[in-house]
Amino acid sequence: MDRRTAFVTGATGFVGSFLTAFLLHQGYRVVALVRGPLPRQRLTEVLCEVDGERLGPTLAARLEVIGGDVRHAQLGLSEDAQRWLSTVVDEVWHCATSFKFHPCHRDEVIAHNVTGTKHLLDLTFRWQQSRPVSFFYVSTAYAAPLREGVAREELAPVGAPARNLYEWSKQEAERLVVAYHERYALPVTIFRPAIIVGHTHTGKAVRFTGYYEVLRAVALLVRNLEVNLGRQFDRNLHLRVRAQPETALNLVPIDFVVEAMWRVSRASREGIIFHLANETPVLVTDLFQYACEELEVTGIDLVGEESFRARPMTSFERLFERRTRFQAPYLLDGPWFDTTQFRACVPAQVLPCPTIDAAFMRRVNRYYLAILDRQFEAIPLTSVSSIVPSATRPGQVSLALPPGGGLAS
Ligand SMILES: NC(=O)c1ccc[n+]([C@@H]2O[C@H](COP(=O)([O-])OP(=O)(O)OC[C@H]3O[C@@H](n4cnc5c(N)ncnc54)[C@H](OP(=O)(O)O)[C@@H]3O)[C@@H](O)[C@H]2O)c1
Repeated sequence: MDRRTAFVTGATGFVGSFLTAFLLHQGYRVVALVRGPLPRQRLTEVLCEVDGERLGPTLAARLEVIGGDVRHAQLGLSEDAQRWLSTVVDEVWHCATSFKFHPCHRDEVIAHNVTGTKHLLDLTFRWQQSRPVSFFYVSTAYAAPLREGVAREELAPVGAPARNLYEWSKQEAERLVVAYHERYALPVTIFRPAIIVGHTHTGKAVRFTGYYEVLRAVALLVRNLEVNLGRQFDRNLHLRVRAQPETALNLVPIDFVVEAMWRVSRASREGIIFHLANETPVLVTDLFQYACEELEVTGIDLVGEESFRARPMTSFERLFERRTRFQAPYLLDGPWFDTTQFRACVPAQVLPCPTIDAAFMRRVNRYYLAILDRQFEAIPLTSVSSIVPSATRPGQVSLALPPGGGLAS
């Protein structure tokens, strides 16, 4: 059997871990780049979470773990390691990333997302001198340029608008990937997944950014009110959220994303940029409704700016907004993502994108809320109950959290 070897960065992360498990099941040998101490142990723990016992024997036999950091030239790999990799790697899958978005993290984000991508392209180019190597870059659908309200499967021109530092860095990295293709004929593919959520059947995920940060912010407020108001909490949040109810959010399950990437990687294809987006996006208003149902609360109003002009924000609303700063712009407008190139390669009959309905979101929300519940339980009540309610109406309660929130972020 012709066993391919994939070099995967970001293998301990959300996309990288599901991708690594998927590739192993497809018969690949995977060499995973993991930074920091105890790389093999950390990766094994994540893969067990993703795949349970199923991966057991495969793990030992076909998974290699190598310590390294994308911020360093040659990823900080020894000469011996580089030489060995140059003789075995057929595919490079670059999933490592920094999700920071605030301008104060500019240097760090550039080092991870832009320079880190260049380091990997340089290595792939060198390996390609001795054997054919394909480079797969995991970007984001939000790096796409917009024309007539449609996000295109094209490279964004220099100076194209970006909502934040993260999006800008992904556009820059994509330009580098395309430059290596054009200058050095490196075979490259850019995947642009939309907002990724848990597995279709289990709701499972391993890191909780994007949509999950909004869910966490709501759950945190509910928890605080439960602790502080006790029986007086009527489960009405009285929370206004700056959002456009009819905005469509493009959610895609992780299992769809990894299978779509793999299918594209094996198909003969035109073009190098592929949108892994849902042809039936979900409305923001429905997403909040599903979250409220799961948390057994009411009282989230999606409002425009004029609402806050008419009545200033409560401290409760300010806290929510602080916790969802990164996600806030995405609640106001969402483009339609063109998937023509992707669907020419992987027709919907072969791999349909699951519908994001109430049942699907129940699984996704439940999986994460169970994890949050365990984290809440681990926090001594005093750190939460030190928050002093200043009034009996939830909208007026003072909810300054202890430093760091005390909860996972
Ligand atoms: N999650 C989404 O909703 C979403 C949506 C669209 C596109 N994407 C894209 O998908 C890709 C993967 O995202 P993700 O959600 O899987 O991210 P993630 O869960 O935050 O994982 C990031 C991975 O990168 C690793 N990493 C970070 N800095 C590194 C460094 N300096 N050297 C080596 N490894 C490093 C992390 O390792 P540690 O374990 O050590 O932290 C982790 O394994 C990214 O390109 C992202 O832009 C994600």
